[in-house]
Amino acid sequence: MITYRLLRYGLCMGWVMAALASVRAGAPAVLPESGARRVIHVGTEHAVYDLYVGPDSRLYNLRFGSQEIPALQTEGSGGGSLTEAYPPSGTRYAFEPALSIIHADGNNSTDLEFVGEQAGSPSPGVKETRIKLRDPVYPVDVELVFRAYAGFDVIEQSSEIRHTEPGAIVLERFASSSPQMTGDLWLTQFHGDWANEMNPLSERLSPGIKVLDSKTLVRADRFRPPFFLLGVGAAVREAAGETWAGMLDWSGSFQFAFDDNGLGATRLLAGINPYGQAYRLDPGVLFATPVMRWAWSDQGVGQLSRNLHRWIRRYALRDGDRPRAVLLNNWEATGFAFDEGKIVSLFDRAKDLGMELFLLDDGWFGTRFPRNDDTQGLGDWSVNPAKLPRGISHLADEARNRGLRFGIWIEPEMVNPRSELYLAHPDWVIREPGRALELQRNQLVLDLTRPAVAQYESGVIDTLLRDNPGVSYVKWDSNRYVTQPGSSWLPKDRQSNLGIDYVRALDGLMAEVEKRHPAVEMMLCSGGGGRVDLGTLKHFDEFWPSDNTDPLRRVVMQWDYSTFFPALAISGHVTHSGGRSIKFALDVAMSARMGIDLDLSKLTPEESRQAAVAVEVYKDKLRDVVQFGDLYRMESPHSGPRSVIDYVSQDKSRAAMFVFQVADGAPDAVRPGGLDPQAKYRLSELDLGEGGVPAMPQLGSVISGTDLAATGIIPTVHKAISSQVVWLERVD
Ligand code: DGJ
Repeated sequence: MITYRLLRYGLCMGWVMAALASVRAGAPAVLPESGARRVIHVGTEHAVYDLYVGPDSRLYNLRFGSQEIPALQTEGSGGGSLTEAYPPSGTRYAFEPALSIIHADGNNSTDLEFVGEQAGSPSPGVKETRIKLRDPVYPVDVELVFRAYAGFDVIEQSSEIRHTEPGAIVLERFASSSPQMTGDLWLTQFHGDWANEMNPLSERLSPGIKVLDSKTLVRADRFRPPFFLLGVGAAVREAAGETWAGMLDWSGSFQFAFDDNGLGATRLLAGINPYGQAYRLDPGVLFATPVMRWAWSDQGVGQLSRNLHRWIRRYALRDGDRPRAVLLNNWEATGFAFDEGKIVSLFDRAKDLGMELFLLDDGWFGTRFPRNDDTQGLGDWSVNPAKLPRGISHLADEARNRGLRFGIWIEPEMVNPRSELYLAHPDWVIREPGRALELQRNQLVLDLTRPAVAQYESGVIDTLLRDNPGVSYVKWDSNRYVTQPGSSWLPKDRQSNLGIDYVRALDGLMAEVEKRHPAVEMMLCSGGGGRVDLGTLKHFDEFWPSDNTDPLRRVVMQWDYSTFFPALAISGHVTHSGGRSIKFALDVAMSARMGIDLDLSKLTPEESRQAAVAVEVYKDKLRDVVQFGDLYRMESPHSGPRSVIDYVSQDKSRAAMFVFQVADGAPDAVRPGGLDPQAKYRLSELDLGEGGVPAMPQLGSVISGTDLAATGIIPTVHKAISSQVVWLERVD
């Protein structure tokens, strides 16, 4: 084999001898540099991702970020290297592969040789590189697709797999990306459950495979979202250190495998979870993996987040430049127990408070099986005449008469067995034949791979929006995950295609809705944060992070979500949860995309007054800075008694600093980040007039950016569960 390669690639004898000697010794060997090796740069100027084509015509990892990857090889690797860029299974490489295939003839090894590369620029500032690989024996082609966004230090990678074998092949593993790093790596993951999303946990990676995954197919982020952080050389820090973020654009089951081979390299395998999802692929059909996104900074996660926020607003979020309206939602206030009179009375109150949009939540539909609780009616999307005798359009008109836009909740992917839809089409649900139905929240998932189901769901949404043109906002919910992953539509030999085909069909449906109803804003929800990937968010304007609306918990959760997402995408609603003061709840909501979810008729006059002031302040001052500014996270609620965050307008003329005491603390100064050191700022407090907290000594003063950075601002709130919002405005 080696002789064959020698002849084929004309390697120098010295290289072969060195490699053979170390292979014989059984130790990892470092392949000497080949002067002729061809390096391919797929990253940005700073976020470096370099690959090279080896003398054996294989594609290798060379550098990811600041780290050069040593070209390791060992005995037993068949003479091949441990650093192939997209390692296939069954040839040379004995660690976790990126690609594993059972070929049409039953052979289960694959080899990939470099064929060629192509670079272009699909839009200004974006570089696309395509690298073609091919199996020398089987007609299987793999194209690695990279996009690099200069100015944001964001890199995307996906793979496109095709074949022309005489029959279907089975893809057993199909990673989106598989770069490698060396040395000391620290992983930060975010785990949780319903109403307890996004708990960060950091650990140092060690030899072996660490897997973060989801196996639920739908509502796939219930226990953890498809993103993580990596600190290079040390645990992730806010304002220092080389840091990577990884995010997968996939709303189904995902897998991140961090494979430290113990020989000097850790491979970061990211993609769809192969567990239970071996995919049967017909000849001539393209299998495109979802995009894995990498964001990089050498100045800690703070700068990484700011880059990512700008990138997401520009490329990943629907209407990322459109200010989000201040919204009143009725879910926490009424649950299912409402009627037309109640909802219209909430409009009156919303108008008094200066709100801009009303969102009618679950419970408006079902005639034979009225949706008065979660046991029935899901799937029957006709208005419940007992609750809303004059229909949705009447409500939308009433809202409009009060200067409010109108929005509505749907959960199109699901069905209650107690529904007309299920009675008519029991075969439309995902289940395994012969087994008793397994319900979660009394519901089942509709099998979107069945064209009739896709047509039904698309028809439901179209009819709702066409018949009620006053609806300009939709909350798309999804409240269970898949068990018994069986489809009566897919053939027997393609049952394990279900999860992947489902997500693709869902993406198609969402894209269709987005295209047909461009003016309708969309909120992404999945029983809280059960679906928060960027692949889905591209069809949405914002997401509902959690059904836990206790503002104390939200301070922490918003801190962690802000690692990845800009504030205009993170819905924050004021509720009575946790029994906190309305001032605290309002301040927390104002530090995100503000909404209220209260029965406004039950507020005390003082609470109503504070809410009205907050809505006005948010619209006039905060919205622009919070939703479109740069975020500086100053003090973490994970490591001290307060959370301090600072939003700075892009031109640095205004800043809003939120101080949230999560425990009792001391009167320590806070140094706001991101200000212009040359500018002078007037300091005021966005005070809701609650009283009881002494005025800040510096109120009204004009202070230079340099002095603010050096001496800081001294907040006067120190007691647990209190807050202060400081406003800084440049004076010329
Ligand atoms: C779960 C969501 O997270 C809630 O906000 C609410 O919309 C309910 N579903 C309604 O059933």
